[in-house]
Amino acid sequence: MSSQIGNILKVSLFGESHGPAIGAVIDGFPPGTEIDMQKLLAFMKRRAPGRDKTSTPRKESDLPEILSGMSGGVTCGTPIAAVIKNADQRSGDYAKMSAAARPGHADYTGFVRYRGKNDVRGGGHFSARLTAPLTFAGGLCLQYLQSRGIFIGAHLKSVHGEEDSSFPETDLTPQQILAPGEKDFPVIDDSAEERMRAVIEKARRDGDSVGGIVEVAVTGMPAGIGSPIFDTVEGRLSLAYFGIPAVKGVEFGAGFSASQLRGSENNDAYCIGADGSIRTKTNHHGGILGGISSGMPIIARLAFKPTPSIGKEQDTIDFIRREETKISVAGRHDPCVAVRAVPVAEAVTAVVLMDMLMEQEGMLPD
Ligand SMILES: Cc1cc2nc3c(=O)[nH]c(=O)nc-3n(C[C@H](O)[C@H](O)[C@H](O)COP(=O)(O)O)c2cc1C
Repeated sequence: MSSQIGNILKVSLFGESHGPAIGAVIDGFPPGTEIDMQKLLAFMKRRAPGRDKTSTPRKESDLPEILSGMSGGVTCGTPIAAVIKNADQRSGDYAKMSAAARPGHADYTGFVRYRGKNDVRGGGHFSARLTAPLTFAGGLCLQYLQSRGIFIGAHLKSVHGEEDSSFPETDLTPQQILAPGEKDFPVIDDSAEERMRAVIEKARRDGDSVGGIVEVAVTGMPAGIGSPIFDTVEGRLSLAYFGIPAVKGVEFGAGFSASQLRGSENNDAYCIGADGSIRTKTNHHGGILGGISSGMPIIARLAFKPTPSIGKEQDTIDFIRREETKISVAGRHDPCVAVRAVPVAEAVTAVVLMDMLMEQEGMLPD
């Protein structure tokens, strides 16, 4: 099922960008988890559009209406269903281009896959609006994981070549992980904000867009979670990361740069930490060896391509008439999707790791 993920904790997404609502059903969430709603809403707000010029001006409050599975702020253990009403649709922006494929978007492939029956308005089910209910689901998981001492955070590592610092790879505190998410602009080094905002604004003014890299870190994940071959932590996370629209690359630890090193440089030497725990002196393995968590921080980086919908004129095809044409995308779009994707990356990480943790601990749904 393409819009559902998870073995024990199952998250299912539904809706279209310009339909009445979007939402999520989360099945298998443990009963008795107290949810801090203010914290959950604040987390979702980090993803919501219309905050400043780095995001689409589409105004959506993204308020989830919880229909089931929670009572008095505590999870019941039964399926949690939440809907988020779509408030600010402007389908007129899309009427002109319904058969002209936006280069870089899913208009043509979606048309072929669903034989022209899918709702194309605003990207339909392919729209990044669907990351709102995903962030709701992930927000619940983040709170559950935090109650067990597992912290997940992310920051904008780079935007069109403008770099932020990196998370420390070995000694990483929950405060360091959570700090970028507490800022208006999610970076570690505040000087990166100005440089990144400048390249995004320049692209926006040019009717263009830019891409970026989001770095995710997890601390407190116990060693021994995951399985080799096809149920690896890397594999399960990657499947979910590629479910975030516009993700085109994923790497863990030293990632692609490990291929440039010698074994003696890339291997992470083991040691015993001050608290008696087994650790590594470096963390090129990004907290995962043989597909199994090592107890070191999990570090992942997600490459986001530039937003496909841009004002600049481009060559395309009309896929109904099957003829060449030109397109210049009107409407409201994010000039750099990576900015709003930071909490989405955190949410997705939480959904996957909580599912893997529950699976390993034999926590069957009640
Ligand atoms: C948070 C977020 C916001 C996005 N906003 C836009 C947008 O405003 N306009 C657009 O064309 N694409 C946007 N995208 C990307 C598209 O949804 C995505 O490129 C498209 O669905 C095709 O999927 P693919 O790039 O994964 O192949 C956004 C992605 C994310 C994660």
